Amino acid sequence: MRLAATTRRFSTITVVGAGLMGSGIAQVAAQNGHDVNLVDQTDELLQGADRRIRSSLERVAKKTFPDDVTKAKDFLEKSTSRLNYSTNALSAAAQSNLVIEAIVENMETKQKLFQDLDSAAPKHTVFASNTSSLSISRIASATQRKDRFGGLHFFNPVPVMKLVEVVRTAETSQETFDYLTEFGKSVGKKPVSCRDTPGFIVNRLLVPYLMEAIRMLERGMHVIALEIEIYTLSFIIGDATAEDIDTAMKLGAGHPMGPIQLLDYVGLDTTKFIMDGWHDLVPDEALFQPSDLLNKLVAEGKLGNKTGQGFYKH
Ligand code: CAA
Ligand code: NAD
Repeated sequence: MRLAATTRRFSTITVVGAGLMGSGIAQVAAQNGHDVNLVDQTDELLQGADRRIRSSLERVAKKTFPDDVTKAKDFLEKSTSRLNYSTNALSAAAQSNLVIEAIVENMETKQKLFQDLDSAAPKHTVFASNTSSLSISRIASATQRKDRFGGLHFFNPVPVMKLVEVVRTAETSQETFDYLTEFGKSVGKKPVSCRDTPGFIVNRLLVPYLMEAIRMLERGMHVIALEIEIYTLSFIIGDATAEDIDTAMKLGAGHPMGPIQLLDYVGLDTTKFIMDGWHDLVPDEALFQPSDLLNKLVAEGKLGNKTGQGFYKH
């Protein structure tokens, strides 16, 4: 009963950006009874999202109904039937009560998208960004609905991670904040409330830690040459290898993944966008300094799990 009432209230939802995060958000919305339009730029990208969602739904079905094939099949069919794929964000938004953006981590691109969506969506439609690091109020400034705008920050992999950060700006109305919080709960997440500060809660702590792990590797890349009498001894000093850093944080700190693995999992491009944005904002902050190694990998297209190579080969 409660789900039906909640579903009507949110129906229909549009998720723009069908990459790692957008496909996960669309999936958890659909599996929890919401009708979802998932939007990306090309049919090929949408086909990729459809494959990812189906394979993830199968894992969820197996876990939820381990002994009941009929229920698992029904769950899969119902969830996929609630998903509609589109390359037209504006017509999708025109039929939606909630639009969640999960496109590339770039302020201008997000502002341009929301400016266009603002003219297409009904007045009551609530907008949310899944940005990892950008100011929600700056993104919202491209629209005429700053009171109906907030952050909904999900975590990767969305079907598994139980948290959602609900971000309110000075202009987000209480009604919008409550609506976004309720949406987070309706898709099975535990909401926490955040002010609109860089990185909110999790990323303000997590991203500097990930960058420190890269710096440990970078320090390991210096070759030291020592002149001793007639010999030259060359050796690499290193804080540690990628494998040892990961093992250390898994076994020594109980993390499910080490930081280098997690960087590949999050996407090196996304991490670089986050760090570059914060560095521009506060250039003197030691924790926000760019990394040559990260820049090099991104320039080479080694973005992590999603391209088959990052710090590791996948
Ligand atoms: N869809 C559905 N289920 C999935 C899944 C997916 N995409 N990925 C994993 N699972 C399920 C598996 O089916 C499995 O279920 P069972 O326990 O019932 O078998 C369970 O999750 C564990 O998966 P695996 O056995 O494959 O692998 P694992 O034990 O190594 O766990 C992990 C994988 C959940 C990703 C775990 O390693 C983990 O929690 N890693 C850390 C992830 C993290 O820190 N995320 C936050 C990133 S930061 C962020 O998102 C914010 C930002 O803005 C950058
Ligand atoms: P991604 O690169 O996997 O996917 C982004 C998708 O957006 C791509 O498919 C791209 O084609 C699409 N896109 C770009 N511009 C578009 C537009 N104008 N209209 C429609 N689609 C467009 O990226 P991601 O990892 O899913 O990240 C998306 C957002 O979520 C970013 O803001 C990121 O910071 C944030 N985020 C990422 C993670 C993570 O772990 N990767 C976690 C939480 C939040």
